[in-house]
Amino acid sequence: MLILAIESSCDETAVAVMRNGREVLSNTVISQIDMHTVYGGVVPEIASRKHIEVISGLTKKAVNDAGISMSEIDAVAVTFAPGLIGALLVGMNFAKGLAFALGKPLIPVHHIRGHVAANYIAFPELEPPFMALVASGGHTLLLGVDGYTRYKIIGSTRDDAAGEAFDKVARVLGIGYPGGKEIDRLGTTGDENSYKLPRAKVDGCRYDMSFSGLKTAVINLVHNAEQKGENIDLPGLAASFELAVSDTVVPRVIEAAEENKYTKICAAGGVAANSKIREILKTECEKKGIKLFLPPLWLCGDNGAMIGCQGYYEYLAGNMADMSLNAYATLDADFEEIPKI
Ligand code: KG4
Ligand code: ZN
Repeated sequence: MLILAIESSCDETAVAVMRNGREVLSNTVISQIDMHTVYGGVVPEIASRKHIEVISGLTKKAVNDAGISMSEIDAVAVTFAPGLIGALLVGMNFAKGLAFALGKPLIPVHHIRGHVAANYIAFPELEPPFMALVASGGHTLLLGVDGYTRYKIIGSTRDDAAGEAFDKVARVLGIGYPGGKEIDRLGTTGDENSYKLPRAKVDGCRYDMSFSGLKTAVINLVHNAEQKGENIDLPGLAASFELAVSDTVVPRVIEAAEENKYTKICAAGGVAANSKIREILKTECEKKGIKLFLPPLWLCGDNGAMIGCQGYYEYLAGNMADMSLNAYATLDADFEEIPKI
């Protein structure tokens, strides 16, 4: 089965062609990062306009790269939630038009489920059940994945997402947007014990997380240093910040896996590309005898392949949509039915 998959929930337009869920025939992406860098973050209106400009050409390229013709496509999968609403609507309406014109099924895919599915592409032997740590620019979640379309939310951030904290810290340090990759690069040469940063706990909810206090602590530290004319040890601060994020997510995902009897942990989302978090996850999972799955970096960030992969399993579960499908800025990954407008 050939699925054409479209992703436009944030600042990347991505289109892929997938065979039988896990085989990538093509995976094209146009990033808008350059466009948003000057503003220090994603400007939703610009994002939507850029998606409109490139989505048609990118789809043709994905089909060409796959070495197939449009008529061979069996279904169209698209991210319909969560994300920037204008950006989602571009991909969703394009997908609707394409599915209608081809007379093929339309498969709505939840973005976070897509991130989890990136692991199926990287690891052909991987099957649920497992525990997933999803850490992206918009979400930080501990998910029990009990089936390809069955999820339970075990913990989540109460405020900022981990990626958001990376980006805000990078902004205050003046190292551009998005900052995760650059903090990662800086941190490799820094001492992770250079700065004492807070690790928050959420009262009564041991698997929930909070990153806003950590973010504020870094911002205050930088402003204080500026006022006193002191230099910041940038690599040291980057490494200390990464350690604080890791100390927040790693023990929780391991404890949640053990308590819920999952023997496997998968990481997903842009922040899962972080080298320190990957390294600590590896060490801690080895200690506990938990099998760890870390997708390659190209599958951590937003891409079309992950949407096509999850789309395949949604299709097998009968989760198709008609032309009344809407897009949603927020929707939990464990949703059972797509809300009606
Ligand atoms: O999953 P993703 O590509 O998009 C969303 O769904 O949000 O995640 C983007 C986030 C950004 O906040 C970016 O700074 C972060 O992932 N990121 C990283 C790294 N690479 C990307 N954070 C830490 N270390 C990295 N190497
Ligand atoms: Zn994402």
